[in-house]
Amino acid sequence: MAGERVLDSPTEVTELYLESMRRSAAGVSIVVAEMDGRQWATTITAWCSVSVSPPTLIISLSSYTAAAAAVSETQRFGLSLLGTDAQPAAEFGSAAGQAKFLDQSAHLHPGVDGCVKGAFAHLDCQVQQQLDVADHRIFVGRVTSAVMFDEADPLVYSNRQYCGLARWESK
Ligand SMILES: Cc1cc2nc3c(=O)[nH]c(=O)nc-3n(C[C@H](O)[C@H](O)[C@H](O)COP(=O)(O)O)c2cc1C
Repeated sequence: MAGERVLDSPTEVTELYLESMRRSAAGVSIVVAEMDGRQWATTITAWCSVSVSPPTLIISLSSYTAAAAAVSETQRFGLSLLGTDAQPAAEFGSAAGQAKFLDQSAHLHPGVDGCVKGAFAHLDCQVQQQLDVADHRIFVGRVTSAVMFDEADPLVYSNRQYCGLARWESK
C-alpha cells in the first residue's frame, strides 16, 4: 500500500505508536476529583464505556497526576463529557503543574454540582477496581448518577488540535 511504513525496532514501534495515537481522534472529557473538599479538573481523552448493565466506564490517569491520587483516596470521580463550547475548560484542565480547582474558575456549571460548563453529559462514578499499568492508573467506575444536556456537539481532539465533528450524508 502506498505510504505504508512497517517499523519493528522498539524505538521505531514507540515512535509509530505515538504518531498513531496523535493522529487518531478522541472525545474530550474532564475528570472531576474531590481534593480537600474542593473539585479539581483534569482533561482526559483516555476514557471509554465498558458496559451498559450495570453502567460502567474506565478512565486512565497518569499515576503522577494530582487527580490519580485524589481518586485513589476518595474512590469517586465525576466525568464531564465536553461539548465544543467547553474548549477553554479543556485547556484549563490540562495545564500541567497548575492549580485546577473548578470552584475558583468560570468553568463550573451553575446548576449541576461538580459538572463542567459546556458539557453535554456528566456522569458521577464510584470506583469498582483500579489497576496500575506502566505509568498510568486505570479506574473502573460504576455510574451512580447521570445528567444529560441537549444541543452540544462533542469536543474532539486530534493531531494536537481541538475540533468538532464534520457530518456528511450517508453514502
Ligand atoms: C487533549 C488532552 C488529553 C489528555 N488526556 C489525558 C489522559 O487521558 N490521561 C492523563 O493522565 N492525562 C491526560 N492529559 C494530560 C492532563 O490533562 C494534564 O497533564 C494533567 O492535568 C497534569 O497533571 P496535574 O494535574 O497533576 O498537574 C491530556 C491532555 C490533553 C490536552
